[in-house]
Amino acid sequence: MVKKAISVRGLTKRFGDLVAVDGISFDVENGEIFGFLGPNGAGKTTTINILVTIMKPTSGEAFVAGYNVLEDPVKVRERIGVVFQDNTVDRNLTGWENLYIHGLIYGLKGEELRRKIEESLEFAELTKFRDVPVKNYSGGMVRRLEIARALMHKPEVLFLDEPTIGLDPHTRARIWEYIRRLREEGGVTIFMTTHYMDEAEKLCDRVAIIDHGKIVAIGSPDELKSNLGGDILYVKVSDRTISLKEFAEEILEEGTALSYKLLGDTLAFKVRSASKAIPLVFRVADSMNVTIEEIKYAQPSLGDVFLHYTGRELRDEEGDWKEMARMRIAVRRRR
Ligand SMILES: Nc1ncnc2c1ncn2[C@@H]1O[C@H](COP(=O)(O)OP(=O)(O)OP(=O)(O)O)[C@@H](O)[C@H]1O
Ligand SMILES: [Mg+2]
Repeated sequence: MVKKAISVRGLTKRFGDLVAVDGISFDVENGEIFGFLGPNGAGKTTTINILVTIMKPTSGEAFVAGYNVLEDPVKVRERIGVVFQDNTVDRNLTGWENLYIHGLIYGLKGEELRRKIEESLEFAELTKFRDVPVKNYSGGMVRRLEIARALMHKPEVLFLDEPTIGLDPHTRARIWEYIRRLREEGGVTIFMTTHYMDEAEKLCDRVAIIDHGKIVAIGSPDELKSNLGGDILYVKVSDRTISLKEFAEEILEEGTALSYKLLGDTLAFKVRSASKAIPLVFRVADSMNVTIEEIKYAQPSLGDVFLHYTGRELRDEEGDWKEMARMRIAVRRRR
């Protein structure tokens, strides 16, 4: 049997009464970019901490690169790279010096170490800034240095905990590019956490949505969206003698739509297939003397998937990066 990059069975972590990770099971294939998507406090970092062997689970099993995290932690550590949620590079040292120390820790030396440092700087596009203290780097540069450092010993599996948290949209897009290159050029398996919907959608081959310590959905972003059962059809009505509700109920009765919501003068229908539903909607409109002004449809987003499984919205995308940056500063001050 070919070993999986990561295999997790019934993993649970309790902190007193709080169940931070609640009996989760999943596999990550070799070469996959796998995303753990969930809101603050969902249990993402706790799961990573267990997988990278710095925290023991309360129960359950986990294998990384073929080794049991509890029985063979050293073998696991030799085969993984980790980028923690909070940056851990030394801000007073230069980029080069940070990589040098990390290389020494992993037993690299002499020419090989120097060559690895150059390669890492180049890959992270930081060669020009090699001798600049990290405290003068931008947030995106620090994150790229962290990732480059985690790659120096050629890990089979790379763990990235919120790789783009607190970064502006442009820098986030650059880091995504960088992560894609890792997989394409190095064949590294990537396990990453995020609470950004767009990040999971654009970057990950498969996503597990985690909420209150439980995996509520798992699959490719496309699968998850189509599992919701089709498309959303927006029908804007301009002229009618009956109420929108009557019109909508008639469409439901015909079996054309699964459900609907009223949004002003527009009806949003959940349908199995928009292309099949559209002609039927026109037919019903005709028979009820309703004039349709505009009709359009959309696939559900990962946000709709999250809403469907949890009944709550996961705040999305780029709007909250400034707030996240503020939160991180607040957290640092409290320490
Ligand atoms: N060492 C600890 N002791 C007690 N509770 C903890 C500890 N670590 C985490 N928790 C709690 O476990 C839950 C899961 O935390 P975790 O850090 O795994 O969430 P997360 O999904 O990474 O969230 P975020 O998006 O904020 O990083 C939270 O309620 C957190 O407060
Ligand atoms: Mg976290």
